[in-house]
Amino acid sequence: MTDDYQQWQRNPLDFWREQARNIDWFTAPNTILSQLNDGAASWFEDGKMNTCYLALDYHVLNGRGNQAALIYDSPVTGVQQSYSYRELRDETAKVAGMLVALGVNKGDTVIIYMPMIPQAVMAMLACARVGAVHSVVFGGFAAPELASRIDDAKPKVILSASCGIEVNRVIKYKPLVDAAIELAIYKPAHSVVLQREQAQASLDKPIDLDWNDCVSRANAVEPVAVRGDDPLYILYTSGTTGRPKGVVRQNGGHAVALKYSMDAVYGVHAGDVFWSASDVGWVVGHSYIVYGPLIHGCTTVMYEGKPIMTPDAGAFWRVIEEHSVNAIFSAPTAFRAIRREDPKGALVSNYDISSLRTVFSAGERLDPTTQDWMANTLGVPVIDNWWQTETGWPIASNLMGREPLGVKRGSATKPVPGFDVQILDDDGNPAAHGKQGNIAIKLPLPPGCLASIWNDHQRFIDSYLSDYPGFYTSGDGGYFDQDGYLFVMGRVDDVINIAGHRLSTGDIEELIAQHPAVAECVVVAVNDELKGELPVGFVVLNSANHGDGNIKAELVQRVRQSIGPVACYRQTYLVPRLPKTRSGKVLRKVLKAMLNGTQVVVPPTIDDPSSLDDIKKGLLSVEHSS
Ligand code: COA
Ligand code: AMP
Repeated sequence: MTDDYQQWQRNPLDFWREQARNIDWFTAPNTILSQLNDGAASWFEDGKMNTCYLALDYHVLNGRGNQAALIYDSPVTGVQQSYSYRELRDETAKVAGMLVALGVNKGDTVIIYMPMIPQAVMAMLACARVGAVHSVVFGGFAAPELASRIDDAKPKVILSASCGIEVNRVIKYKPLVDAAIELAIYKPAHSVVLQREQAQASLDKPIDLDWNDCVSRANAVEPVAVRGDDPLYILYTSGTTGRPKGVVRQNGGHAVALKYSMDAVYGVHAGDVFWSASDVGWVVGHSYIVYGPLIHGCTTVMYEGKPIMTPDAGAFWRVIEEHSVNAIFSAPTAFRAIRREDPKGALVSNYDISSLRTVFSAGERLDPTTQDWMANTLGVPVIDNWWQTETGWPIASNLMGREPLGVKRGSATKPVPGFDVQILDDDGNPAAHGKQGNIAIKLPLPPGCLASIWNDHQRFIDSYLSDYPGFYTSGDGGYFDQDGYLFVMGRVDDVINIAGHRLSTGDIEELIAQHPAVAECVVVAVNDELKGELPVGFVVLNSANHGDGNIKAELVQRVRQSIGPVACYRQTYLVPRLPKTRSGKVLRKVLKAMLNGTQVVVPPTIDDPSSLDDIKKGLLSVEHSS
């Protein structure tokens, strides 16, 4: 156990009061923690501050004005551009001015649907500057997903760009934005589009505006003071049902927690170069492309490319060399993709990566094979950290800025100060060491974690705080070993993890079930060497349907168009019936085990055991035919 963990355990409030001194409040908070009866918590609620000020102005005022704040590296466009803290502050202040001119006030919401370009960072920070609440939607989501977020967040303005670029394909964003606005019941007042040279969007709707026109006319605005418990952003994430949950992050706890994590967890200092090879649409991008590194005074790298194909599996090593990256953060799937292309890691020797001190991995469990390969190939510590959109920063990790505890392959190490992690059985009793159970966190959650679900506080309580009184339910299963190392083994609910992206099988099922030829269906995850998991559908057709025609292709299209390509839905098995319990529950675990070739435990409650034979035959025939 680290000293920090002990200090926190001894007196959590003193610990966080102390950490709060590391950020520059306009008015320091008197109240450190406020807890509601239902278990929800706010930190530093009466402090006055501004997150954009902390990320930009503070550094300009304190001698970092000329230091690079953001390096944009885009192999897909051939562009590289560096912004100093002063330049990023000035540009962001104008984008904030644009928002004000469009009528965005403190507390209003703004949706950002943009690719990995500096304007996406400016847009986020500009919202924070004026006290508006941003909600960034990942570019790989299709129009209906965007529409559901528009209806929930009710943004005054949508900020987007004309296109994203996927390796060498230009993905036009404007038609997606238009379609989403058309689908949504709520209508935003303005849709501002940044024109990229790879695609000109037609700004033909009455609400359309050109980003450059608006920003060039705007006046720079100063950061406004917000309260510690004012919301900074909403980030939608998948739950077990189709409706995404809008995780609400508050300004005060977020800034304090990220500042602490940059120092303690990541062991980086102001002036270091920190590269999160993720996307601003995900929580890793929010916390460790944008807010964490900038609040800490680092240089952050924004990479518009892939680990492979842009142009090859040496892409990451090039970026590390060219920008003297000190710490890189990505998902295991990215490193597996590199290993697949370059198994011996030969491309590393083409670059000088001596600046690199540590590799951090999150988004899914870092499998020991990948961990070993990375450590051997790169010759630096490779650190797994376990966290979720909900927590906003790592729950378990080796504290590289304190006393690193040593790596145990397959473990995310130990809980980070602030998190009292416990393994509970289904009845809520503590599980013995080594015994797998539900991973729960004792309340209150530390600063930086979600304060609520946007527009639905009851859903927050029902989803997270109701299973075990006094605990937050993570939705993950795992165990502590005899040395207190935490092993996170996967979700215990119906959420799946595709290439580090979290999606709901329920969401995909809902779509498939809406197809007129489908009587019923279930979607489960099959293990995939590259992406961790992939969704697979078991579909029963209506009796009126003979043969499968194009149904499998239609289902793929349906999922691509409604959720997005990022769902990676490609495989459907047509089966005569689904295996169920006598009470009618589909035996998902059984299907998953059959798909993955692991031990199939058939519960005695199965209604008709012969339903499994049909499925077995279906799976075998595919194996034979492929
Ligand atoms: N905008 C539009 N489409 C997008 C997109 C975006 N921002 N991101 C992904 N997509 C599309 C891809 O083009 C692909 O479409 P396709 O089915 O038409 O080919 C689909 O969504 C799946 O994308 P992806 O999962 O990225 O697969 P890939 O085969 O293109 O690349 C990897 C494989 C491993 C290289 C890639 O998954 C990767 O870089 N993963 C890292 C994940 C990561 O950083 N996660 C963040 C959490 S920390
Ligand atoms: P997201 O909210 O998209 O970040 O996804 C969070 C989920 O990803 C967690 O609940 C886990 O299931 C999984 N996850 C993230 N990081 C890890 C990790 N280091 N080890 C195991 N699972 C992880």
